[in-house]
Amino acid sequence: MKRLLAVCLTAFATTHALADVDAAKAQGIASKNMCFSCHAVDHKVVGPAYHDVGLKYKGDADALVTLTKKVKNGGSGVWGPMAMPPNPGISDADLRVVLTWVLAGAPTQ
Ligand code: HEC
Repeated sequence: MKRLLAVCLTAFATTHALADVDAAKAQGIASKNMCFSCHAVDHKVVGPAYHDVGLKYKGDADALVTLTKKVKNGGSGVWGPMAMPPNPGISDADLRVVLTWVLAGAPTQ
């Protein structure tokens, strides 16, 4: 019985997390903020594929906060020597939509 409950809760948590992902909106924002000039969903361009970023931080509860700072301030050394320049122009709300989508594995629907 306990186990069944755990399964149900996991299913609920997963569905809930997915419900917060707005793939179309996230891609629109990423496009408007030039993220796609260096990133693609499923292959490396200058920066890592968003699918890979999602996999790397799977289950990392701090990822949203860490990556928000990283995208705003820029940085290098996690995926290779290429640096991401700072992106100060994107609002926190927009960045949250994009990163929530990336961390969900960047589903394109
Ligand atoms: C000029 C190219 C460029 C642009 C524009 C760019 N990125 Fe990046 N991005 C990179 C590179 C290069 C890396 C890898 C940095 C590293 O290895 O630490 C990266 C890494 C990332 C990561 C993973 C960071 C980590 O530490 O694992 C995320 C998430 C990300 N970018 C999101 C974005 C978003 C969102 C935007 C748009 C607001 C954006 N990027 C715009 C080049 C870019």
